[in-house]
Amino acid sequence: MKTLLKKLTETASPSGYESAIREVIRAEISSLSTNIKVDALGNLIVTMGKKTDNGLRVMIAAHMDEIGVIVSYVEKTGLVRFSNLGTILPQYLAGSRVVFLNGARGVINHDLPDDLHKIMPLNKHFIDVGATSDKDCLLKIGDVGVIDRSFVDLGKRVSAKSMDDRVACAVMIETMKKIKNNPHELVFVFSTQEEVQCKGATTAAYEIEPDLGIALDVTPSLDILGIKMQVDLGKGPAIKVRDMGMLSDPRVVSWMESTAKKNKIAYQLEVLDVGTTDAKVMQISKAGLPSGALSIPCRYVHSPSEVVDMDDVQATVNLLSALLNNPISL
Ligand code: CO
Ligand code: ZN
Repeated sequence: MKTLLKKLTETASPSGYESAIREVIRAEISSLSTNIKVDALGNLIVTMGKKTDNGLRVMIAAHMDEIGVIVSYVEKTGLVRFSNLGTILPQYLAGSRVVFLNGARGVINHDLPDDLHKIMPLNKHFIDVGATSDKDCLLKIGDVGVIDRSFVDLGKRVSAKSMDDRVACAVMIETMKKIKNNPHELVFVFSTQEEVQCKGATTAAYEIEPDLGIALDVTPSLDILGIKMQVDLGKGPAIKVRDMGMLSDPRVVSWMESTAKKNKIAYQLEVLDVGTTDAKVMQISKAGLPSGALSIPCRYVHSPSEVVDMDDVQATVNLLSALLNNPISL
C-alpha cells in the first residue's frame, strides 16, 4: 500500500491535466474489469458487476487531480508570476519547489513583505526557474505545474504532496481488488477537476445515473491546531455528516455507521466547516440521489507535506469493502 501511495503521490497531475495520473491508475486496475472508459472530461470510469433485482448502481468517486499552479506572467528579470489551480495556501509556498508538466523546475519565494508577521498573498509570490531574463525562461503563460515533493515513510504515518486525494485513489484501488460477488453494479470513478469545483464528478454522475453516491476524500485533521473538529489521525475513517457543500443523506450516514459497528471498524463523525467533495454534485445530479462520503483524516491538507495514518487508510478500505460487498437497504 505504501508503494502504491508513493507512486500515486509522486505523479504530477493538476486539475484539468490528469492524463499522467490516469495512466498510472489505469495500469493498476486494468486487470480488474473489462469495462473501463474515459469520458470527455477525462474521468476514468471502471464498472464492476451488473445490477440485479436486489442491487443498486453505486457510484464511488475519488478525485485524481491535485492542486497546482499556472503561469500568468513572465517578468523581464525571468521571474515568473503565477495563479492557482484549486486552493493553493500561500503560507506554505515560500521555499517550495515546483515541477512543470513541460519538465521545467523552479523554486518559489515572495516579494519583500512590509510586515514580517503577515502572510504574503499569492500574487506577491514568484517562481525562480534559474532564468537570467524572460528570453531564456523555460516557462510561458499557461504552463502548469505542481509542488515538487517526494513521498516520505514516517512509519505508521506517511507524508507526501497530493495525499488529497491520491490516498483515496489508493483506497479505491485496494477496495476494487476486494470486491466479491454482490448484487450491485459498482461504478468506480477516478474523477477530474475536483479541486476546481467538482467538475469531473458532475458529468460522470450525469452519465452514470447512480442510485447511490459515495465520495472518498481527505478531511482535515486539525487535532494539533486547536480548531474544534473532532477528527483525529489514527481513529479511523470519518463518516461525513456535513461539509460546506452538502448535508449527507442521513440514511447513508446510519448505513455507514451500522456497517462499521457490525464489522468492528473504528470510525469518527465529521462536521466540516470548509470545503466539500464530489458527493455534493452526485447528490444533486439530475433528479437527485442519496449520497454520502468517507473521509480519510489528513493533517496539513493543501500543504506540500500532507500526513495520513496507514491504519486509517487500511480501515477505510475495510469499511468501504464491507459497504459494497453486501446488500444495501437504506
Ligand atoms: Co483538496
Ligand atoms: Zn480532495
